[in-house]
Amino acid sequence: MSDGNRLVRVAERARARVAIRIDGRTVEALAGDTLLTAILLHQGHLRHSEFGDGPRAGFCLMGACQDCWVRREDGRRLRACTTPVAEGLAVETGPDPAW
Ligand code: FES
Repeated sequence: MSDGNRLVRVAERARARVAIRIDGRTVEALAGDTLLTAILLHQGHLRHSEFGDGPRAGFCLMGACQDCWVRREDGRRLRACTTPVAEGLAVETGPDPAW
């Protein structure tokens, strides 16, 4: 764990390990975690707002607000709060170069 992570796992550590990549860095999640949980366990924010109001960590956490979009390496967007982690999933959390 590095300084500034938004979440700290305190329970359910026995689930299967899943390796994902966040901004090119391989990190460990647990089967059943959402992508939002996995990202916030490893860094202090989910993404940076394209509207310039700073780092974001999601808002509704239930698929309604659109505050948690991240991109797969191929550019397709994912809602982090409703996407379960999967082995080999790779996402980018920086600003979308297409915007
Ligand atoms: S945090 Fe609201 S849609 Fe994901």
